[in-house]
Amino acid sequence: MIELKQVSKQYTGQNGIFNAVHQVDLTIQQNEIFGVIGESGAGKSTLLRFINALETPDVGHVIVNGMNIHEMSKQQLRLYQKNIGMIFQQFNLLSNKTVEENIRLPLELHAYPESIPMDQILAFVGLTDKRNHYPAQLSGGQQQRVGIARALITRPSILLCDEPTSALDHRTTQDIVKLLKQAHEKFEMTVVIVTHELEVIKALCERAAILENGTLLDTIAVKQTKRNEDPIKSYHQQALEVLTYE
Ligand SMILES: Nc1ncnc2c1ncn2[C@@H]1O[C@H](COP(=O)(O)OP(=O)(O)OP(=O)(O)O)[C@@H](O)[C@H]1O
Ligand SMILES: [Mg+2]
Repeated sequence: MIELKQVSKQYTGQNGIFNAVHQVDLTIQQNEIFGVIGESGAGKSTLLRFINALETPDVGHVIVNGMNIHEMSKQQLRLYQKNIGMIFQQFNLLSNKTVEENIRLPLELHAYPESIPMDQILAFVGLTDKRNHYPAQLSGGQQQRVGIARALITRPSILLCDEPTSALDHRTTQDIVKLLKQAHEKFEMTVVIVTHELEVIKALCERAAILENGTLLDTIAVKQTKRNEDPIKSYHQQALEVLTYE
């Protein structure tokens, strides 16, 4: 369980000091798939960085499985961060490394006794035939699949996704959403997804928090669309709908 208790963070902007995050209380359950939505600048990424301790709130606490992460020893914190996977909007792949080398990167930094075998993770994200390709030879969706494999290979207990589909087109977004859903079903982990795309939250999350100007407006239970009501449309179909109907 991840608990944010009255967390606040101020930054200095062009017009002086402002609240990037203001007195946010949030509880995310173990193995939940939780969304954080809000417009640009709402404080979503800051909130996510609180969870992996890349950012420290000025006030308030982040408590994970009963432990205050700001009271952890250096070693405890390292262990904690080692168990968190991250997925980014711009994929953050190393251009001079192949798909396989990119996916293997976290294993070069730490020992992960329960890591997923390379063949298995490549098959899971559908990139078996691309293992020796370089990022520049891949589409955006394929690059994000590499990012997802790199995050999953360590078997993290928490997966943080910051706008994982915001650089992708509609169809590819649907594919990546499906993959994230499968990942959540296959691997036990708590998933937090930050995005401004409501359809992504609708398709994936059980609950979502709405942020506005750093303040938590609401936490809502998401009603998921039934699959047959939301068929995956071809690009051709979508184009016809948008361009030829009034
Ligand atoms: N290190 C920093 N120094 C100063 N201001 C910052 C810093 N990090 C974030 N901010 C500001 O804090 C506010 C919240 O930023 P944050 O990145 O959390 O928003 P966001 O909801 O993720 O936005 P986006 O959807 O554009 O990614 C923004 O106004 C941003 O400019
Ligand atoms: Mg952001």
